[in-house]
Amino acid sequence: MKILITGGAGYIGSHVVKALLEEGGHEIVVIDNLCKGTQKAIDALKSVGAFEFIQMDLENIAKMDEIFKFNKFDAIIHFAAFIEVFESMSNPLKYYLNNTANAINLIALCQKYGVKNFIFSSTAATYGEPETGVVSEESPQNPINPYGRSKLMTEWVLKDAGAANRDFKYGILRYFNVAGASSDGLIGQNYPNATHLVKVATQTIVGKREKMSIFGDNYPTSDGTCVRDYIHVEDLAQAHLSVLRYLQNNDSSVFNVGYGTGFSVKEVIECAKKVSGVDFKVENAPRRDGDPARLISNADKLKAKTDWTPKHNNLEEIVQSALNWEKKN
Ligand SMILES: NC(=O)c1ccc[n+]([C@@H]2O[C@H](COP(=O)([O-])OP(=O)(O)OC[C@H]3O[C@@H](n4cnc5c(N)ncnc54)[C@H](O)[C@@H]3O)[C@@H](O)[C@H]2O)c1
Repeated sequence: MKILITGGAGYIGSHVVKALLEEGGHEIVVIDNLCKGTQKAIDALKSVGAFEFIQMDLENIAKMDEIFKFNKFDAIIHFAAFIEVFESMSNPLKYYLNNTANAINLIALCQKYGVKNFIFSSTAATYGEPETGVVSEESPQNPINPYGRSKLMTEWVLKDAGAANRDFKYGILRYFNVAGASSDGLIGQNYPNATHLVKVATQTIVGKREKMSIFGDNYPTSDGTCVRDYIHVEDLAQAHLSVLRYLQNNDSSVFNVGYGTGFSVKEVIECAKKVSGVDFKVENAPRRDGDPARLISNADKLKAKTDWTPKHNNLEEIVQSALNWEKKN
């Protein structure tokens, strides 16, 4: 397949590029403006296999049109987006322009040039604050911040485009809490100001942060801290390959991507202390707006309908891979 990957120099995109290069048989073009992704990730991926890298912004529609004109893509995997929930509340238009408007332009190019497959990185944030804490693909979507809404709107556009043109198939993947790094240590999560729990814990272990915070310890959960579904980035990457295969013989579909298991913030911190042997400093802080108490996937559909089989469903392994990466970088 000839596959265009937007945001392929970023955290999740780079793991999918790596998985596709390792699978072999694909012609890959990566577009990234490197606003968050890194040349270092691109260079590391070049050691795995050959692909074309174009440094550019998706909003350059004329250049995008040219790229589509000269490449007959079989599939697009669209990662490029801004991802910081709290920033999206203070600067919503930045999110709607990049995550929604740029995505719509990309979908329009797919229609114009007859691209048949589109895989979209959506998020559990589109569910908002679900009552039960466990969500299936059919659960109501009530995002509570512009980031979640920017992604939900793109889902709607994809669904409408797919309904109007049956040759255009989409796979919407709603990721839960992505963590870890590649098992061989080649690539990992780069952002220094990350708010992701596992990343922050490993940064604290290696001394890049003096301490870390628990935001709220009076939630209605077993130990009072928020519960999330952590998925290893390599299993998440493989889900894209599985859904791409699924689309070759099936209709468009939406999939949760998680393990269906919840860990509390305190449990993750205890795990990080155990794995590292470092008793790092943790302090209690007030709740953050918009943090639901529990957010866990019902991921039965992905397992039942596709050939996806998770291989790293183990919190210690996730934390260890993230820690190895943090130590090396
Ligand atoms: N990290 C998570 O836990 C998580 C959870 C749910 C969903 N997602 C979704 O997964 C996708 C990838 O997230 P990530 O964690 O890898 O983030 P990331 O910031 O590491 O990757 C995004 C990449 O897109 C690039 N980019 C952004 N805007 C661009 C533009 N206009 N033109 C060209 N390149 C652009 C960035 O440089 C970066 O390399 C995002 O769409 C995000 O919404 C992530």
